[in-house]
Amino acid sequence: MSASADTQAEVSKISILGSESIHVGFHLLPYIFHTILTKLPSSTYVLVTDTNLAALYLSQLEEEFNNVSRSLGSKSRFLVYQVSPGEGAKSRKVKAEIEDWMLGEKCVRDTVILAFGGGVIGDLTGFVAATFMRGIKFVQIPTTLLAMVDSSVGGKTAIDTPAGKNLIGSFWQPSCIFVDLAFLTSLPSREVSNGMAEVIKTAAIWVEEDFAALESSATEISLAASSKPESTAGRFAKDRSAAQSLLLRVVSGSIHVKAHIVTIDERETGLRNLVNFGHTIGHAIEAVLTPTMLHGECVSVGMILEAEVARSLGVLSQVAVGRLTRCLKAYGLPVSLSDRRIASIPAASGLTVERLLDIMKVDKKNSGSQKKVVLLSRIGKTFEEKASNVDDDVLRRVLCEAASVVSGTPTKSPVVMATPGSKSISNRALILAALGKGTCRIRNLLHSDDTAVMMNALSELKGAVFSWEDGGDTVVVEGGEGSLTTPAGGKELYLQNAGTAMRFLATVCTVVSATSPDAPTTIITGNARMKQRPIGPLVDALRENGAKIDYVEGESCPPLRIAPNGLQGGHIRLAATVSSQYVSSILLCAPYAKEPITLELTGGQVISQPYIDMTIAMMKEFGISVERQPDSDIYRIPKGVYVNPSTYNVESDASSATYPLAIAAITGTTCTISTIGSSSLQGDARFAKEVLEPMGCKVEQTASSTTVTGPPVGHLKALGNVDMEPMTDAFLTASVLAAVAAQPCNAEREVAGSRPVTSRIYGIANQRVKECNRIEAMRTQLAKFGVETDEFDDGIIIYGKQLSTLTSGASVHCYDDHRVGMAFAVLSSVIPNTVLEEKRCVEKTWPNFFDDLQNKMGLQTNGVELQHASTSKSHQSTPQHPIFLIGMRGAGKTYIGKLAAEALGGEYTDADDVFGEHTKLSVSQYVETHGWSEFRATETKLLHAFVKEKRGNHIISLGGGIVETPEARQILAKHIANGGRVVHVTREMGDIEGYLDSIGSTAARPNWGEGFAEVSQRRAPWYRECSSHEFFNTLAPLSDQSQDDHHSAMRREIARFFNFISGLATNRPNLGSGRFSSFLSLTFPDITPALTDMDELTEGADAVELRVDLLASGRATEEYVAKQLSMLRLATPLPIVYSVRSKDQGGLHAPDNLEGYVNLVNLGLRAGCEFVDIEICWPVKTLDQLVASKGVTHIVASWHDWSGEMAWDSPALRAKYDLCAKYGDVVKLVGMAKSTADNLALATFAADHPEKPLLAINMGAAGQMSRILNPTLTPVTHPLLPSRAAPGQLSVVQINTARGLLGMIQPRQYYLFGSPIGASVSPTLHNTGFQALGLPHVYSKHEAAQVDQGIIDIISSPEFGGASVTIPLKLDIIPTLDMISEHAKIIGAVNTIVSLTVDGKRQLQGHNTDWQAIHKAVESNLTLSTGERSTALVIGAGGTSRAAIYALARLSSKPRILLFNRTLANAQKVASSFPESFDIETIDTLDNLPSRPKIIISTVPGDSLCLSHAEGTGIQLPKGLCTSDAAPGIAIDLAYKPHQTALLSLASTSGWKAVSGVEILCLQGFKQFELWTGGRAPEKKIRQAVMDKYLAQT
Ligand SMILES: NC(=O)c1ccc[n+]([C@@H]2O[C@H](COP(=O)([O-])OP(=O)(O)OC[C@H]3O[C@@H](n4cnc5c(N)ncnc54)[C@H](O)[C@@H]3O)[C@@H](O)[C@H]2O)c1
Ligand SMILES: [Zn+2]
Repeated sequence: MSASADTQAEVSKISILGSESIHVGFHLLPYIFHTILTKLPSSTYVLVTDTNLAALYLSQLEEEFNNVSRSLGSKSRFLVYQVSPGEGAKSRKVKAEIEDWMLGEKCVRDTVILAFGGGVIGDLTGFVAATFMRGIKFVQIPTTLLAMVDSSVGGKTAIDTPAGKNLIGSFWQPSCIFVDLAFLTSLPSREVSNGMAEVIKTAAIWVEEDFAALESSATEISLAASSKPESTAGRFAKDRSAAQSLLLRVVSGSIHVKAHIVTIDERETGLRNLVNFGHTIGHAIEAVLTPTMLHGECVSVGMILEAEVARSLGVLSQVAVGRLTRCLKAYGLPVSLSDRRIASIPAASGLTVERLLDIMKVDKKNSGSQKKVVLLSRIGKTFEEKASNVDDDVLRRVLCEAASVVSGTPTKSPVVMATPGSKSISNRALILAALGKGTCRIRNLLHSDDTAVMMNALSELKGAVFSWEDGGDTVVVEGGEGSLTTPAGGKELYLQNAGTAMRFLATVCTVVSATSPDAPTTIITGNARMKQRPIGPLVDALRENGAKIDYVEGESCPPLRIAPNGLQGGHIRLAATVSSQYVSSILLCAPYAKEPITLELTGGQVISQPYIDMTIAMMKEFGISVERQPDSDIYRIPKGVYVNPSTYNVESDASSATYPLAIAAITGTTCTISTIGSSSLQGDARFAKEVLEPMGCKVEQTASSTTVTGPPVGHLKALGNVDMEPMTDAFLTASVLAAVAAQPCNAEREVAGSRPVTSRIYGIANQRVKECNRIEAMRTQLAKFGVETDEFDDGIIIYGKQLSTLTSGASVHCYDDHRVGMAFAVLSSVIPNTVLEEKRCVEKTWPNFFDDLQNKMGLQTNGVELQHASTSKSHQSTPQHPIFLIGMRGAGKTYIGKLAAEALGGEYTDADDVFGEHTKLSVSQYVETHGWSEFRATETKLLHAFVKEKRGNHIISLGGGIVETPEARQILAKHIANGGRVVHVTREMGDIEGYLDSIGSTAARPNWGEGFAEVSQRRAPWYRECSSHEFFNTLAPLSDQSQDDHHSAMRREIARFFNFISGLATNRPNLGSGRFSSFLSLTFPDITPALTDMDELTEGADAVELRVDLLASGRATEEYVAKQLSMLRLATPLPIVYSVRSKDQGGLHAPDNLEGYVNLVNLGLRAGCEFVDIEICWPVKTLDQLVASKGVTHIVASWHDWSGEMAWDSPALRAKYDLCAKYGDVVKLVGMAKSTADNLALATFAADHPEKPLLAINMGAAGQMSRILNPTLTPVTHPLLPSRAAPGQLSVVQINTARGLLGMIQPRQYYLFGSPIGASVSPTLHNTGFQALGLPHVYSKHEAAQVDQGIIDIISSPEFGGASVTIPLKLDIIPTLDMISEHAKIIGAVNTIVSLTVDGKRQLQGHNTDWQAIHKAVESNLTLSTGERSTALVIGAGGTSRAAIYALARLSSKPRILLFNRTLANAQKVASSFPESFDIETIDTLDNLPSRPKIIISTVPGDSLCLSHAEGTGIQLPKGLCTSDAAPGIAIDLAYKPHQTALLSLASTSGWKAVSGVEILCLQGFKQFELWTGGRAPEKKIRQAVMDKYLAQT
């Protein structure tokens, strides 16, 4: 039989295991079926695929099969089986289903089974084929890139089990593998990248040339995979596009390598291990992050980490790691665990180093306990021809986020080394060599994103050809002699955030020549940050010279559109006071202008002259001499072409070189840097001579090398006055040395009037605006070592200390700033146990810094796992931008602003005050003299300055009329676009008018001259347009609230709101942790009547849902909603789920009112709701817009099916799920159950969709079971509510009771340990709570005066849930526990035990909730005026005083603490055991206190204090103790009896807040309850029961 013409195709054939069974090409279906039908004849062909692919290709498959079958006269059957897409299909269940179906279809041994799909289909189908009737033939038709290059090749088949992936399977080779690349066009780009990870891996271990091709053509290759060819183009070589040929080459190349390796070692005994490069660590990561992250994505990160392992072992160079990193990034793959795609998913918190190491233990490659990793030795080659043994310590060093340097003497001294190449010189050398004539070999080039971007751009402009030698250590440049062309097809040059490249290329692009008419200009652009970086002066100068350059987006910033042939030459004037890079940019290109250039620098003081000199010196080395007119800033540059030297050695970066030299200085050893010396033009090269020598080091410098020998350890001299203006970046290195420079400085440098050990570094003001405010950073971090510092306008002062007096064990925050990290690494070489919290901060300039410390200098480094990595991070990350408040006068901006600043620990500024300081006039005076428009102009100027100068945590309240000018509105809108926050403060209109009337017309603000209502109406849209958020100010207390309660509720809400919108605290429950969570649905048309009961209504709930559509029975205005929301906030601290439910989804919102829906949802987002519900039934465009502005809010994407028609296993429902998952952080699917069996279908569905937190329930009575089983945010009702939000809704108590009965909640035993505890009310407290929530737990007393066998037995029993611990056991219990919280450690006492299961193991944790109770009591009762520093008095120095002191020190207002005790020595002992920063002062009398306390806490027994000696025997409290200058204070008596102690009576009579011991007992009990149950305690009920019991006893 001969093939009919249309079954022919051209394919590349690749041989595996001795047969050419892999066929690669395009549009192969006819060819595939023809080949199968002729080569593998059978009565039955079974095609297995998934529903995704079936939707795309099934009809085509059937049609092509029939055509071929008909033409061949075949009678064979063609059967198709579809499974659900996703890894879930690789299961025993699905395998069995396929087998049963095949048996039912009477398939016999001659059946040929075709796997059509990705790796999942291939693995599953292959395994079916391997065992069906003891093995039948099978064919792979892979449709994902991963399957094409990896899983379909090699014959490994498998399914997953709960114990792990791919654990059951077999080797079963397919008869044929047809790789049809045309299928890739429908593959999502994320899946393409996923496959590219394997392609890159294969090239990296085996063929350097392939890797280089992947590296240089990333964009083309990605494009080729996705571009849709016309019809069947590409089936034959002659009609293949260039893109198709490239893709074919890349994929075949990769398959070829894999096939080769498999052929040599089919059963994976050694060599085949190599294809596991990146997989040892990658698999461990995947195990934690699956299914959210894909295999290839995890392997991508794994490859980088494993390459770093090789680098750390000294086997692989940083150049190779850099190339690998950039290549993976170019294909859109993540390269580190801090990648946002990874860090943002909840499961990422499970990526602890120990967990990863633990998972790696079960790797199939391991022999025994020894872990194995494939080590690269260079790109294209591995260290061994198999995986190598690697110790855990090395893995830990690479995996840990933090590092420590073991202090001691560098063992390699005298060290001789080179440090990374200078970035400035590297960038210049690249431009020069590219523009030059001939070949230039550049050595020691810095390999960074910046230089890579520069090389890419120059290649795109066809300006030069780059290649690599020596495994990448040498870059070979074939110069283009200045001939460049605009990029083909108008392609933009993307420069990321590489500032130098942007500035240099701006001029380079003016000298390119025009190409085709489709690309008349060159566009250079970058990331968001780049688009804010100024470039105006350079563009001005070039434009003046005739260049045509346009700003594509913002004025004076990139992106730029540059017309070719633009550099005319002649006289160019350039303002050079901002950046010397503008000057260098013009200088470098000047020889290629049409006329010789005379460059005149204007504007006075030229910045960074040394960089200009560097450019000129380098130009000379490339054959062009620039002439500087004597004593002027005028340069003449002749026309010409650079002549490339055959080699060019890039000098080391002088700033980097300071670190090893400083290590020599501080450790008293010797270090030579061989790549930088006295001839260097880099300012920092003077560091050795001008900083180290005066400190007492021996410095020898040749033209190109520098050697430093430090004095004996501890003998560095202080610097005195030192001007570091020429070497500003090195000031951090100097600062750490100055910190231990305890010898007096040289006399001539002495700082007048200061100590001789003073180092005063000046000329470094610019360091405040680098990666971080470096002066502040150095001061804060040095303080952790106990080093005193100070700062002034352009510098820092450091007071040297004896080495031995510095604090060891400091944990240094590096601000993600490489210089901070490396400077403190120097200090850690002499201060033991210093931890550098983010070791990767060095990556910017010296990625292998820590490896070099270890391998080249001989200082051992270790990985350190931070205890509370995630929490410490959120505390440290202060927002980048200030927060502005806008709104009408009288809306409450000042009140809110001050409280917000207090909550964020930041500053508050009133713009009016600044205006006054600035103009020396009040606003109204100013308006009177200068008029409104002048006033607005000045106001706008101030706003501009605020945006530029103020940093995070700063709250600035602006004048009400700021929005009147378009310019100010623009500034605010831009601020928001850049990630800043502007909060519109609103208040009910009537309230504001009333308020303004009440205060009368004030002198500070002028009158508008028009009505209030008019003004406010006119401004309303502007306020909206210029704000990102809205805070509705409810000034009146809720019905049952006192003024004080209202104020503290406002404070709580303001703190929540501002912390929330700044991204500092989400106030959200932890979803997806396996804990059940729920929210209460509020169904009131007006929630006001329910506010008093809110505590009871929300018992056991984790959030409250506000059903906005039900408010005002569906007719609520936005103002009404805002007000209701605001009142709800004052009534409950719980997070809010904000839902607008439309009619067809079961609510009241009109389904045709899209605009109303959008406005209401936006209101929820702007109001900072923790969750906002979005219905996916609205148009996709609307959903896109809403989700784009969600900020920190989490979206609950919802779908409700009221019809009851949608089955949980239907494709329709799956489609709804996909849509919800696309938009939501939480997916909400609600069906209608007809029978209880529907709930089982739901459960199966939920189990198959673990990707996102899923709220899936069935309505109706038959669906109640689903509400009991649903783990995430189950909507609940409460008996006190007027109606249920949905049919079948249950209460928390009902659900908990049912869960208890179903065995879903294990009954636990809780205890009180201590003695005497006979009268304790703790059992009442906790048992009331358990009962109120329907929990099956029991709390009982266990009296014991020591930790005896009884206690040991209790805490080791499996039913043990936790315990309260009281005297005398708070200390003694500690050794029996597995983990103690940081707080409890500092306080030195445990009052709470929690039994938890962590990673499958039982863990007993010790906590202290006493301090939390005290902290809470103070926080919610104390009123401070802003900026006031209060004083707190603690009475007593026993154990409890420690909790009190700790609570005080953790207050955001940081009070001064006075500690009183009758025996002063005891007080001193307590004080000295806390950090100095707590600021504790001990006193032995209560008379004449150094300042008036506003907080008094007594920790002594109730009878130890008295008001007068007539009343008792204790210490007498002075009558005036409870007075204060401003608002009344708060007194807390921790004594439990009597109820009214002397302190409390004194407080009450003085008008102070008095908090009793019972109240503190309740508060600490609530915290315990939270720790034990994971949810809030029903506080009101508990408090009631406890008081009843307590009062009955007394
Ligand atoms: N056997 C081996 O040697 C080996 C090697 C590597 C990976 N694997 C296995 O492969 C599996 C992963 O394979 P995968 O990455 O191909 O994932 P996959 O099979 O799950 O496919 C990914 C997704 O893409 C869809 N899809 C597939 N082809 C498409 C196309 N042409 N157009 C549009 N959509 C398409 C699928 O429906 C699926 O939703 C894992 O189970 C892994 O263990 C096996
Ligand atoms: Zn893989």
